[in-house]
Amino acid sequence: MNTIVANKFINSNQTLTHIAVVMDGNGRWAERRGYVRNQGHKIGVSSLKQLVKNCINERIQYLTVFAFSSENWTRTESEIVFLMTLFERTIRAELQGLAKQGIRLKFVGNNDSLPDSLVGAMREAEQTTESNNLLGLNICFNYGGKWDIVQGIKKLLENNPDVIKDYTKLTEQSFSQYLALADIPEPDLFIRTGGEQRLSNFLLWNLAYTELYFTDILWPDFDKGDLREAIDFYVGRKRKFGGTVDFRVGASEDENNDQLSNIL
Ligand code: FPP
Repeated sequence: MNTIVANKFINSNQTLTHIAVVMDGNGRWAERRGYVRNQGHKIGVSSLKQLVKNCINERIQYLTVFAFSSENWTRTESEIVFLMTLFERTIRAELQGLAKQGIRLKFVGNNDSLPDSLVGAMREAEQTTESNNLLGLNICFNYGGKWDIVQGIKKLLENNPDVIKDYTKLTEQSFSQYLALADIPEPDLFIRTGGEQRLSNFLLWNLAYTELYFTDILWPDFDKGDLREAIDFYVGRKRKFGGTVDFRVGASEDENNDQLSNIL
């Protein structure tokens, strides 16, 4: 069994464990070439396959992608049917190859309104790959960050009916165990292609301290060099998690007072 060794970048002490991606711009990519929008989604699958390989090469441990949002149901019926069919066919066609590469698949989202055959393909893919650990590939499908928080509350209450009596003991940590991606580290880097600069209801809780990277590249064009650029952006960031770099815990009172008088 392959086990990944955490990456560490030469000019940084930071590791990059988990990348989350909004794969935006398939429709525009197709329209600019005079194709129907669905052609963009088809090429978008190839782009995702490349990203998976490139993440393995970069020794990323978790990749989470937004494949279909709770809000995508407002698209035309023909695009929705195309996407459902494309997802199911891709899962079935790629499963053995992904399993051999050491990828562990997880599908995250609300399955209630999905076709039974698609849910069946997702469950089969999860079961076939569950003991793999080279790359955890999480595919968010019929997913919304707000849905995730509400399903977490429901699960918490289901598992602990007495929590209402004891609600003051509830903490961020005890609640977050019930979120869909509870068992893995929060994303270090968020990438959104397609030029928009918003989260679009993706992983709202999990992205609290994630570094955000936006690029105009349309998803079908996103390649190895674009991933490298995003990683270089990440490596250049100073992550503070709400702390400061100027006011060091280990600094003397005089040093911190000097800092204060410089600022005020
Ligand atoms: C957003 O682009 C993209 C989607 C809603 C679909 C993303 C899905 C894939 C790339 C395929 C993934 C496949 C599997 C099996 C997980 P858009 O259509 O909103 O583009 P636009 O903003 O240019 O219209």
